[in-house]
Amino acid sequence: MFKDDLLKGKRILITGGGTGLGKAMGHRFMDLGADIAICGRREAVLKETAAEHEARFGREVATRTVDIRDAAAVEAMVDSLWAERPLDALINNAAGNFIAKYETLSPRAIDAVLGIVLHGSAYCTLSCGKRWIAEGRKGNVLSMVTTYAWTGSAYVVPSAMGKAGVLAMTRSLAAEWGPNGIRLNAIAPGPFPTEGAWSRLLPSERFVSLFETRTPLRRHGKHQELVDLAAYLMADGSGYITGEVVTIDGGEWVGNAGEFNFIQDVTDEEWAEYRSRR
Ligand code: HXC
Repeated sequence: MFKDDLLKGKRILITGGGTGLGKAMGHRFMDLGADIAICGRREAVLKETAAEHEARFGREVATRTVDIRDAAAVEAMVDSLWAERPLDALINNAAGNFIAKYETLSPRAIDAVLGIVLHGSAYCTLSCGKRWIAEGRKGNVLSMVTTYAWTGSAYVVPSAMGKAGVLAMTRSLAAEWGPNGIRLNAIAPGPFPTEGAWSRLLPSERFVSLFETRTPLRRHGKHQELVDLAAYLMADGSGYITGEVVTIDGGEWVGNAGEFNFIQDVTDEEWAEYRSRR
């Protein structure tokens, strides 16, 4: 889909880069010539992913063990990465989420999700953005949100609140930092199976196929499709796009939002009969 060196020379930090979509993005960015840094809470997972990338691409991957809920730890991480070589881009990918009835949540449960999704993304964006501005460098921030950032969703309320906040940050800072040459965009993925998300969000197997039947394109997303969109938004060729959120969900949210979408199982005979009533 892209020329091989599309992202050559760029250094990209991916939060939660050790697993799932973060790992898949890292693989694709390296494949397109970028250098990456990955961070997460579990050192062993980061080391294993970095070793995989390094074996595949023959280039070093920086790893940092950090909990992005801790602002001072985020600042120290970005500082140490910068000392090696400044970053060109940040992927706010790390997330925390689980399904639960809101009335059963403890304050700590709410804080855990908002701490990772909202505060973590805010701290990482701040630490990178202020350095880009101080040094007169261009920057690029891509945040992973979801379509329920704007629709809301039952049973994942703290996540919906956090993702809505990240989308608001994306649009707000696109305006504020645009004159500094810093872009901010978001991707809103629909159902892309990952171990981390599926194990926490689907209470049983029967929901896996339901995700397919309620999506107009009748299938899950492929990681390749998502990582190519991320690569496009990382590339200079998308340089005039900022403050935008791109939905990649097989039509899932519009398919379940439209007033009359639910009559899709009306048969041809019924349509003919309906027309004959004119
Ligand atoms: C109710 C729960 C719970 C659950 C945890 N808690 N899981 N409450 N139901 N299923 C509560 C705990 O009881 C505790 O509160 C508080 O949350 C913090 O839990 P800890 O386990 O101590 O926290 P921590 O180890 O920091 O784990 C954070 C986490 C966890 C968010 C709870 O799930 C996590 O680490 N997630 C990271 C990966 C992830 O979630 N990936 C999926 C992202 S998918 P008390 O009061 O008891 O101490 C996504 C987009 C989906 O975001 C879009 C799909 C279309």
